[in-house]
Amino acid sequence: MKKGQLRYLNRIMFFCGCMLAIADVSAQAIIPIATENNMLLMQTDDNNRLRTVYFGKPLENEREYKAVVSNYNYDESNAGIYNSAYTPAGTWNLSEPAIQVKHADGNPSLELKYASHKKEQIDANTSVTSILLKDPVYPFEVTLFYKVWKKENVIEQWTEIKHKEKKPVLLQKYASANLYFANKNFYLTSFQGEYLKEMQPVETRLLQGIRTVDSKLGTRAMLLQTPNFILSFGKPASENEGTVMLGQLAWSSNFKLDFEIDSHKNLRLIAGINPFASEYSLAPNETFKTPSLIYALSNNGTGEASRNLHNWVRKHRILDGQGERLTLLNNWEATYFDFDENKIADLFKDAKDLGVDMFLLDDGWFGNKYPRNNDDAGLGDWQENKKKLPSGLGYLVKEAKKEGVKFGIWIEPEMVNPRSELYEKHPDWVIRQPERPEIYYRNQLVLDLSNPEVQDFVFGIVDDLFVKNPELAFIKWDCNAVIYNAYSAYLNKKGIPQSNLYVDYVQGLYKVLQRIRAKYPTVPMMLCSGGGGRGDYEFLKYFTEFWPSDNTEPLERIFLQWDYSYFFPSIATDNHVTDWGKQPLKFRVDVASMGKLGFDIVASKLDTNDKIFCKQAISNYNSFKDIVWHGDMFRLVNPHENDIAALMYVNENKSKAIVFNYLVNNRFSITATKQPVVLNGLDPKKKYAVKEINLYPDISSSLKGDNIFTGDFLMKVGFNPHVTLQRTSVVLEISEVE
Ligand code: DGJ
Repeated sequence: MKKGQLRYLNRIMFFCGCMLAIADVSAQAIIPIATENNMLLMQTDDNNRLRTVYFGKPLENEREYKAVVSNYNYDESNAGIYNSAYTPAGTWNLSEPAIQVKHADGNPSLELKYASHKKEQIDANTSVTSILLKDPVYPFEVTLFYKVWKKENVIEQWTEIKHKEKKPVLLQKYASANLYFANKNFYLTSFQGEYLKEMQPVETRLLQGIRTVDSKLGTRAMLLQTPNFILSFGKPASENEGTVMLGQLAWSSNFKLDFEIDSHKNLRLIAGINPFASEYSLAPNETFKTPSLIYALSNNGTGEASRNLHNWVRKHRILDGQGERLTLLNNWEATYFDFDENKIADLFKDAKDLGVDMFLLDDGWFGNKYPRNNDDAGLGDWQENKKKLPSGLGYLVKEAKKEGVKFGIWIEPEMVNPRSELYEKHPDWVIRQPERPEIYYRNQLVLDLSNPEVQDFVFGIVDDLFVKNPELAFIKWDCNAVIYNAYSAYLNKKGIPQSNLYVDYVQGLYKVLQRIRAKYPTVPMMLCSGGGGRGDYEFLKYFTEFWPSDNTEPLERIFLQWDYSYFFPSIATDNHVTDWGKQPLKFRVDVASMGKLGFDIVASKLDTNDKIFCKQAISNYNSFKDIVWHGDMFRLVNPHENDIAALMYVNENKSKAIVFNYLVNNRFSITATKQPVVLNGLDPKKKYAVKEINLYPDISSSLKGDNIFTGDFLMKVGFNPHVTLQRTSVVLEISEVE
């Protein structure tokens, strides 16, 4: 065949391939979204409405897909249909909608009919299916997207909304996902909290009606409730068996998750941006992309689902998830606002002496007309305070380098104190009701990131720091206030409805972060929110880690880290050793080692043995941190249900593991842990030596003998770490032996 003919044939074949991928509109459409262990099946009905007909283990035989529907006899005459793949409001459906709009002409009705779908295969493991739905009356359309990572059993679901009406359409509700699960009892674990008590799990059986988990805080959205959830099918969630879904709405502001048990006792899940005060005005031909609902499914309990999510987060979400992190010494709890450059330079020596990689200068380094000597002034004025740092930041970066440590810095760029030059110059940049008294949260207000000038300003803070100090190694990005008195002078000036503010704020913030990452793609940044008010999969595209809570009391921290671990790999969570609580230093260091280790103590005041211990523990951490950051994590003994907590990390080829064991109940005398801790994730055929590490100076391990066992033994019988009132924290290193 000649070259020209071949090209022609290729073109025809390519055209046919595209035709195959786009389904025939006239026939009934059946759309499977399948991972290795799970399948979501959607199908059009006689009215060409798209419905979810199956959610469960993958059906093996494609020809049987269409037989699913005939096995259900639901009476649907009352509320419309419950299993709509994206429930519109204002026409035939009276159940909780996924989308509700007011058209340009003021009409509040919406119908969505299936138009077409296609599947794009990105690589052997990843595909994106998109389904186009159209209103037959108005030029209004919705596309549903399903991105699948097959091996990890992770699905990311979002929606794009577009119209060609003559004027803007008001989106009153615009969910990311609308799922349906049939024939089960459903248990929901949601995570609530408050400052210092973040991420507390509560499991409830879902009963009739809607259970809503939401946030209206604007900026520190995760503080009281979080967008993370565990759904367990048939029975309460457990670690190593049962079908569970671990999910999160990846949106860094107000969210709403509605779990509704309908009158068939089935579960509808509608998740998206919280419609509270957020009717969004969408101009013709513009696309509104919702945030993503991201979930992992497992038929083997929460442990497997977490490990899948961890892998996914590391490979596909968090910045540099497969890379390294910097251990650090932070001055916040050592100095608070009370320091000068000499005091700080002295701390570099401590950082060097401890053996950490970096020194992090926290709050209090800026502001001149209104010096930041307390939390009531200076925020917004990002120039070095001349009294505290007369030689400037550049000097500190250089001095740190001389000591052989890197230098990082704290900023809180979205915020402003009313006592600041920034506020005096730009009151119109601040989110505040012009006619009402200001309401402060930690004496501060939030800048209006819907305003492009404010976006430039915030980008400029980071850019300026790096331009002036190219060797700056780390940024801690804090956020200590919620949005009160939500009102934007900018939107008002532009004639854009105020109800766009919550959404435009976040999109403005993402734009800034995108600009930062375009110019500074790799520099590590910690997301902090005066504790655990922030940390979601969308933010993590731009950050290397986040701060789960200001609560560093190590006993409480065990629970907190345990609960975060359902959704986040340990490389993502920053754990600092501080002076909080009454636990010995060893306990504190061991707990902080289950993540990215840092210190926030006056290292020079440590006594000799404490110093020796810290240095040894940091050197041990350096030897196993790769397993904690990149290995598989197994939750072994749940502190919510037991006197001890145990958790382990295993490397990829199962040759090395680290097991952390802690006493979490001191209310009665425990002579020694009665039972062994059953390990997980090892190779049953390999032999392993069990050795205790992180021992305090002059204390020898109470584990006797050579302790060599097969993986089989360790995963069936287990190993007793001998946790006692005298040995409240025991770290075991498990190494393969010949
Ligand atoms: C809140 C953070 O959580 C702390 O670690 C510290 O950075 C302070 N803000 C500083 O104001």
